[in-house]
Amino acid sequence: MDMPVSSRPLDHVADFPAIPQGWSYLDTAATAQKPQAVIDAIARGYAETYATVHRGVYQRSSEMTLAFEAARRRVAGFIGAPLPDEVVFVRGATEGINLVAQSWGGANLKPGDRIMLSVLEHHSNIVPWQLIAERTGAEIDAAPLTEDGRIDLDAMAAMLTARHRIVALAHVSNVLGSVLDAKRAAALAHGVGALLLLDGCQAVPRMPVDVADLGADFYVFSAHKLYGPTGIGVLWGRTELLAAMPPWQGGGAMIDQVSFARTTYAPPPARFEAGTPHVVGVLGLEAAVGYVERIGLEAIAAHEEALVREARSALSSLSSLRLFGPEDSAGIVSFALEGVHPHDVGTILDESRVAIRAGHHCAQPLMAHLGVDATARASFGVYNGRGDIEALVRGLERVRRIFG
Ligand SMILES: Cc1ncc(COP(=O)(O)O)c(C=O)c1O
Repeated sequence: MDMPVSSRPLDHVADFPAIPQGWSYLDTAATAQKPQAVIDAIARGYAETYATVHRGVYQRSSEMTLAFEAARRRVAGFIGAPLPDEVVFVRGATEGINLVAQSWGGANLKPGDRIMLSVLEHHSNIVPWQLIAERTGAEIDAAPLTEDGRIDLDAMAAMLTARHRIVALAHVSNVLGSVLDAKRAAALAHGVGALLLLDGCQAVPRMPVDVADLGADFYVFSAHKLYGPTGIGVLWGRTELLAAMPPWQGGGAMIDQVSFARTTYAPPPARFEAGTPHVVGVLGLEAAVGYVERIGLEAIAAHEEALVREARSALSSLSSLRLFGPEDSAGIVSFALEGVHPHDVGTILDESRVAIRAGHHCAQPLMAHLGVDATARASFGVYNGRGDIEALVRGLERVRRIFG
């Protein structure tokens, strides 16, 4: 575990054609670069095997349907979903959370009910709940954070009541990299009769995830942060929950029978997949799953752990630099240079060919909690190594020189 980064056998930059030599891409938490294996799967899907799914009577479409459903099984296995039909393909995590909020929330929430979120949530795990709370009369609570930037589960335990119907938390914070004790969160939610939704956007690319073992009820993630394509993601939900949820969008593919007198709906996952799906996106997601499984999620987690340790240690040696988040954050390091706006930090680093993210990271309540309006954020992937951290530090020293 304590091997230095450079001696780890995990340097996959050669798999990524869009990362030129000398460019340090440190914005994987926003979106990951794509390995050739994913690009090839997408190209094959359009250039060789393309057809629609679930509808065609011709062989090409039947084969594509088989490939599409095989991808669903592969994704289910990847996240430890007990059944493939518990995997609903959506546009991304944002759509997955909106789906649960609108469908489950619309059917189950009533005035006086409460929804538990946390201060560090991405706007995608806040605004959908605000929309449904407004519609149903439910109310929202936000669990506070510990000093080092984790969701404070002791405080949350004290806040939870029998009125709470759902707890929705980030498995890994996109700003602080802090990792939730998801099993404990599940036990706390279930202890008051609430469900647990985990936003797994930042967890799935950087650690093994087994939704059944975690005890979650819903789990969402986006393929594009997992080295896959944009426009596709996953909502996993327990069978009995999905089966009891009404559709949230109507259209083709989600019905059983349609008449003007009465329309009946298909069982999940089709019930929640209205319209022609992102067929090739699903194949790209499957290829991304294959790619990270070949490397191994344990190896990726260990690699990013080492990078974070090295980055935090190097950054803390710079003067007037504030580090956010816990020491053992997963693949993500947020920081601020005193007297320099993070946007300026990002712009000057770009001149040094280092790409980081600067801004509120779609987490304005967290920024307010930290007392800043933005942070700079470096986030890692399988293509990063010690050289990227060295480039980041050199770039930050240049920022310091420029700003005096
Ligand atoms: C923790 C977290 N949740 C949700 C999202 C939203 O993901 P998407 O924009 O792919 O739907 C992100 C993306 O930045 C994220 O980091």
